[in-house]
Amino acid sequence: MAPMTGLTIDLRGKSFSGTPVLGPLSFTLAPGERACLLGPSGIGKSTLLSLIAGFDRAYDGTIALPPGRIAMVFQAPRLLPWRTLAQNIALIPGAGDLSRARALLAEAGLADAADQYPEKVSLGMQRRAALCRALAVSPALILLDEPLVSLDPASTEQMRALLRRTLDLTGATALLTTHDRREALALTDRILEIDGRPATLRHDRPSPLSRDDRLDPQRVETAYREMF
Ligand SMILES: Nc1ncnc2c1ncn2[C@@H]1O[C@H](COP(=O)(O)OP(=O)(O)OP(=O)(O)O)[C@@H](O)[C@H]1O
Ligand SMILES: [Mg+2]
Repeated sequence: MAPMTGLTIDLRGKSFSGTPVLGPLSFTLAPGERACLLGPSGIGKSTLLSLIAGFDRAYDGTIALPPGRIAMVFQAPRLLPWRTLAQNIALIPGAGDLSRARALLAEAGLADAADQYPEKVSLGMQRRAALCRALAVSPALILLDEPLVSLDPASTEQMRALLRRTLDLTGATALLTTHDRREALALTDRILEIDGRPATLRHDRPSPLSRDDRLDPQRVETAYREMF
């Protein structure tokens, strides 16, 4: 039997209209590992996530997924506007009924918003609901595209806390993207830094911070100064 991995990327190349954007680029995540794909805007982070999620199959190389479901949380929450937050979750096959959806939302601090329509709640709340929707199917692998981008400081803190808590509980393998180095340090166990055109892996480093230390902005700042 092949050894189980959380995710194995062995990408030779990805182009758009003949222009190479990604690769060669290889890395493996262990089951339950959480890593951050760090790179500047426009480098190819979202592109790589959509290859992993299977939305785009036009690439050279192989991507080996773990058995089980794959969930993706997009930068835009992509909730159906004509459904409430709880309904948005409950209509996903395998997510359970409305009361389970409400319970998941309550864990994310959204008990009072469960029966609201997306446009009535903040972007931060929509993002948290989208994360609940992804977690509702107990994915083996969860992909999160810029989960903290364009949130105000209070929403950023709530989302960070929720990500830490939920990822700890689910044990899913997780790959999230960011262009923010401090955010990368604050969120994950491992930082995969990509750069260049086509983008390749420049650094693959464990986070120097323990999961507890990452809660302390001062420690994040110190690690940032030492690392970058
Ligand atoms: N469908 C597409 N067709 C053509 N080019 C594309 C397509 N999608 C992305 N690109 C190009 O590929 C490159 C990588 O884009 P991508 O969105 O993956 O970057 P990113 O790292 O996610 O950036 P950001 O941090 O701004 O989200 C960009 O130059 C972009 O213009
Ligand atoms: Mg992107």
